[in-house]
Amino acid sequence: MKLIALIEAEAARLQQSGVSFGHGTTNAFDEAVWLALWSLGLPLDDLEGVAQRHLSDQEQRQLQALIDRRIHERLPAAYLTREAWLQGVPFHVDERCIVPRSLIAEHLADGDLDDLLGREPTRVLDLCTGNGSLAVLCAMAWPQAQVDGADLSAEALAVAAINRERHGLQDRLELLQGDGLAAVHNRVYDLIVCNPPYVNAQSMQALPREYQAEPALALDGGADGMDFIRPFLSRAARHLAPSGWLVLEIGHERPHFEAAFGGPAGLEPIWLPNSSGVDAVLALPAEALVAWSAQTGTPKGGAPLNASGVSS
Ligand SMILES: C[S@@+](CC[C@H](N)C(=O)[O-])C[C@H]1O[C@@H](n2cnc3c(N)ncnc32)[C@H](O)[C@@H]1O
Repeated sequence: MKLIALIEAEAARLQQSGVSFGHGTTNAFDEAVWLALWSLGLPLDDLEGVAQRHLSDQEQRQLQALIDRRIHERLPAAYLTREAWLQGVPFHVDERCIVPRSLIAEHLADGDLDDLLGREPTRVLDLCTGNGSLAVLCAMAWPQAQVDGADLSAEALAVAAINRERHGLQDRLELLQGDGLAAVHNRVYDLIVCNPPYVNAQSMQALPREYQAEPALALDGGADGMDFIRPFLSRAARHLAPSGWLVLEIGHERPHFEAAFGGPAGLEPIWLPNSSGVDAVLALPAEALVAWSAQTGTPKGGAPLNASGVSS
């Protein structure tokens, strides 16, 4: 049997089984291609070059067994292959972290954030770093930058450490553990990127099994999806340089975000369009966060802000 014929047959099987996509591919054919090329040890980006290749019986059985697992265990494909790609960059992945798919990666690759910042950032924080993919992409985008990746989950940080080593970034990427911004103590950044847990409670209950296989800590944003974001935004100004920026992913939660932070004297973010639409990623300059924090008050236990927004 030729590879392309087996891929088409396995794609049909995936389609009929009703598995859910969204962890690196969006449809059954692409998922079958990925799993087929991976199981045969072939480059993942050249189906055309190998499509007519003849498969041995053993190779066929190997791929069929992998697709069987995908269908019966309902795990994201990346948990089976132990690898995910983001903007062409490979990352180690396993059940200790979610499968990386942040839309912020598109903005890092497109150079949008350079336009926003107007200069190269030298200090960058990837808050809620998970497997460290955004932190690694930041370090690649700005070779002069010192990058911190912070997460509450020690397990996710262990995966991030694997990716830091894989990409040779031990000197420029520091991994920090803690709850939200507490992990970074008094550090101040030119740019904070953050893809936090933001799925609201109703959506959490409706998640397909593939998403339920990921750590709930990475997804669950509480009743309105804003449980992490509320304390984070109220503290963010003090961790940004005066001309710094925050880039925050909120997925489909714009209505909840606006209910929580909009209105008169509320936050007015810049929405950054990407492949998911126009309102899944937002950007806020430090000065807007400083003004907003001054109006809404600092959280209990927080240090007062000076005029530049940096903790005094
Ligand atoms: C949506 S995942 C993002 C992971 C990674 N940045 C990515 O884009 O693939 C959210 C991450 O936030 C972490 N997290 C959840 N609650 C946290 C908290 N209170 N403080 C710090 N990190 C937290 C989770 O462990 C998870 O790794």
